[in-house]
Amino acid sequence: PSNLSSRTLLKGIPRKTLYEAENILKPLELTDDCYRKVMEIMNQNIEEGLHPDTHANANIKCFPTYVRSVPDGSEAGVFLALDLGGTNFRVLLINLHDQEVSLESKIYMIPQPIMLGSGDQLFDHIADCIFKFMCDHNLHDKSLPLGFTFSFSCRQAGLDKAILTTWTKGFKCEGVEGRNIVELLHAAIDRRKDMKNVRCLAVINDTVGALISCAHSDPDCAIGLILGTGTNACYIENLDNVKTWDGDNDDPKQVLINSEWGGFGNDGCLDFILTDFDRAMDNYSINPGKQIYEKMISGMYMGEIARLAIERLRKHKLLFEGKGSEQLSTRGRFYTKYISEIEGDDVDNFAMTKEILEELELTSPTDQDCRLVRHVCSLVSKRAAYLASAGIACLLNKMGRERATVAVDGSLYRFHPFFHDLMMEKTAQLIQPNLSFKIRLSNDGSGKGAALMAAVASRLPREEQE
Ligand code: GLC
Repeated sequence: PSNLSSRTLLKGIPRKTLYEAENILKPLELTDDCYRKVMEIMNQNIEEGLHPDTHANANIKCFPTYVRSVPDGSEAGVFLALDLGGTNFRVLLINLHDQEVSLESKIYMIPQPIMLGSGDQLFDHIADCIFKFMCDHNLHDKSLPLGFTFSFSCRQAGLDKAILTTWTKGFKCEGVEGRNIVELLHAAIDRRKDMKNVRCLAVINDTVGALISCAHSDPDCAIGLILGTGTNACYIENLDNVKTWDGDNDDPKQVLINSEWGGFGNDGCLDFILTDFDRAMDNYSINPGKQIYEKMISGMYMGEIARLAIERLRKHKLLFEGKGSEQLSTRGRFYTKYISEIEGDDVDNFAMTKEILEELELTSPTDQDCRLVRHVCSLVSKRAAYLASAGIACLLNKMGRERATVAVDGSLYRFHPFFHDLMMEKTAQLIQPNLSFKIRLSNDGSGKGAALMAAVASRLPREEQE
């Protein structure tokens, strides 16, 4: 598949239809001036997050992670890891040895009622999954250290103390915000009498996992980025710039910062780029007015933005001869994976696009319908990729490293056919000319990163773990 220019894609569509469609879709196309403005505001917001006087009201919290250096390759042992916060919940068994990593993992479902239930229910379920996993691997009588990739906004008070500030991405469990999630996990483990020997030594964010597991092989790695169900980035910051830092000042004088950039725009500073589609999607989300930047960029929301735009075109009789379907008018029914599939489709026959539209009960879509639907998808994903690029460029400029690698993970980045190319192109345009960068996939960062940090923590003297 190739990333067709919209001119090629829209060839053959009657001029009047095109004119009306473009009018409706125009707000999804942003100029470079907009992206530069986004970078400028983001830069200010990051400063606010890093300063104690402004931190409380900052949109981009910039939490110090207590990860001060990247693991050096000497970490060894067998660890359990948990990965919660993406599309799936996973339990992993990881063996680190001589720079080699081998892992086995199993995905467990978190049923929606648990995602929206009580914190105790959630952690009991997690403990239950760990127990099942250990039984399946004949580990139930073993004492294993555990690393936890918990991908939500947390204020850390140490490597093994992470206080959840706000749920995001469809989770809303009662009684967890404001609490140390390690304590809640341990309490759930202790409620069962059968597995007292599992202790969590380190909690990390998925962005941190992406960064440290890539830095293992690439010393230039300085940013960890997630483009999945949600979006977020972490980066290496000099301790001097972290005015909220209250840990020790030992070398190296740097710390990974979990930016929590998903919350960018919560104070209205991005309203100038929001479209009606964004506002409608936000209104019906479980956290209206929150995670504004994340909602324009990530997998949980992009499909819905596209659906709203497609519905608008349909109502104006610019698609499907104006005939809709119950499926198409159902909120959340147009998945973000459709965007990837449609943009990856063969434009000579639109086989996949037609299959998807038929799945949505839109009978006999024409090639023209397919072209226009693909155009909508490409506008939504291009804006997402460019906004993420503005964020990355802002961090690259701020760090000012001559060479830097961005380690990326997440379903959106993995499955979209051109997200990588779009980001390379736009980031290059937005960074200072003396800087160079790479963007690369980080494989299994959430699992490996958690195990690596558990390994680092298990070597620390006892008092540092307290
Ligand atoms: C959300 C979470 C953040 C996480 C990101 C990607 O923005 O708040 O912690 O890193 O999703 O999973």
